[in-house]
Amino acid sequence: MQRLEVTILAAGVGSRMHSNKPKVLQTLAGVTLLEYLLRTADSLKPEAIHLIVGHGSEMVRSAVAHRSDVNCVLQSEQLGTGHAMQQVMPFLQDTGRVLVLLGDCPLIEPSTLKNLCDTSADLALLTVEMNDPFGYGRIVRDSSGKVKAIVEEKDATSAEKQIREVNTGVMVADVDLLKNWLHQLSDNNTQSEFLLTDIVEHANAGDSKVMACQTDYPLEVTGINNYVQLAELERALQKQQAIDLMLQGVQIMDPNRLDIRGEVKVAQGVVIDINVILEGEVELGKNVSIGPNCVIKDSIIEAGSEVRANTLIDGAFIGAGCIVGPFARLRPGAELADSVHIGNFVEVKKSQLGKGTKANHLAYLGDATIGAEVNVGAGAVTCNYDGVNKHQTVIGDRTFIGTNSSLVAPLNIGAGSTVGAGSTITKDVDPDSLAVSRAKQVTVSNWQKPIQVSKKTSEDI
Ligand code: UD1
Ligand code: CA
Repeated sequence: MQRLEVTILAAGVGSRMHSNKPKVLQTLAGVTLLEYLLRTADSLKPEAIHLIVGHGSEMVRSAVAHRSDVNCVLQSEQLGTGHAMQQVMPFLQDTGRVLVLLGDCPLIEPSTLKNLCDTSADLALLTVEMNDPFGYGRIVRDSSGKVKAIVEEKDATSAEKQIREVNTGVMVADVDLLKNWLHQLSDNNTQSEFLLTDIVEHANAGDSKVMACQTDYPLEVTGINNYVQLAELERALQKQQAIDLMLQGVQIMDPNRLDIRGEVKVAQGVVIDINVILEGEVELGKNVSIGPNCVIKDSIIEAGSEVRANTLIDGAFIGAGCIVGPFARLRPGAELADSVHIGNFVEVKKSQLGKGTKANHLAYLGDATIGAEVNVGAGAVTCNYDGVNKHQTVIGDRTFIGTNSSLVAPLNIGAGSTVGAGSTITKDVDPDSLAVSRAKQVTVSNWQKPIQVSKKTSEDI
């Protein structure tokens, strides 16, 4: 196998997005376009990866700062894709080949690229038949079928505009020959740019072997130039991901209404209702069910647990057989053991809840370690913040926390104890005891209600 280097073109302004963010840093299903391309490049194990930066170069550089193996090359003026390639040539070794990837074409499959790299052509272009080729460079072939040229939309005649075979922008070239072709580029075209696509004519003139390999999977070569195309590609990708899961035994109520934005591992027997967002790294164990309108991010949910409608889960671990929601919120560090129930309007943050513990309505549990079989009543709050510092609450096994209790941390409530409803607890509670702190009830017998002195007008009310 010949030496292979990869170049990713990512200096363009992305003018059709009207955004300050460089196009390669836009996200498709939660992952930047750049990240897709780097992962794909990595899978080919190239000798080097070069990234052409220009517009918003500092932002792009910092996005790859953790990768010392990525060579950023500055294209200080964006004079076209050919000009971009000219900038990288001094860094490439003459004896190998270079694979060119476009920063706005993120879903290209490694297997397609391997096939392209395996051809023996001096210049191998990846092409595709598009039903609507508008905006793409057209592949012009001669009567024998040989690729003659790539003509950009703006330069195409009306006959050329009818051609449905288009340039994906992905190509593999012999470095030595490419240098030559790039030297011959001019900006004498409608765009006044140095177009990489013009190398085809120079390659043909020099009798080099030019080949076009077609992919029949348009999704992988769809370029993103504006937010409409970004959203359309994201939807197509997410629908494909949903269908893949369905074929593995996951029941998805509507594959058009599931958004995966990251990496998911979903076991068999899982049921996912509509309008669910799975973000970051999410693991759903066997037979987990997710109700409608839930957002689940960077979390693990173990077998048989049920997440009910309108629940937000972020950075949480949920054991087996739990019920969470409807309308619950688990924030980072929420760890539920098996069979825990978290009900509506309950918020849990940085807290561990032991097996079988229940907080079914309207509670805030933050910075707390809560044992097993605890019952947390409606309106109970761990007062974990004194305005400056956060403090811990420890609640032992089998405790009963009455309705509307304020548990002022730092606080330790011993196992088996009971906190009476409406209490504000500021001191530690021994095991198996009752703690109540509330004003004594006063009952006045035969209480005379106020008597109305004059008739009410509508303005009084
Ligand atoms: C390009 C191709 C077109 C192809 C289409 C596929 C050219 C001239 N045209 O058109 O044939 O059908 O992609 O999607 O190559 N870039 C730079 N520096 C520049 C200009 C662009 O790095 O000076 C980068 C951009 O950041 C982008 C990529 O090159 O990632 C493609 O540029 P873009 O302007 O989107 O090209 P298209 O008009 O889509
Ligand atoms: Ca483009």
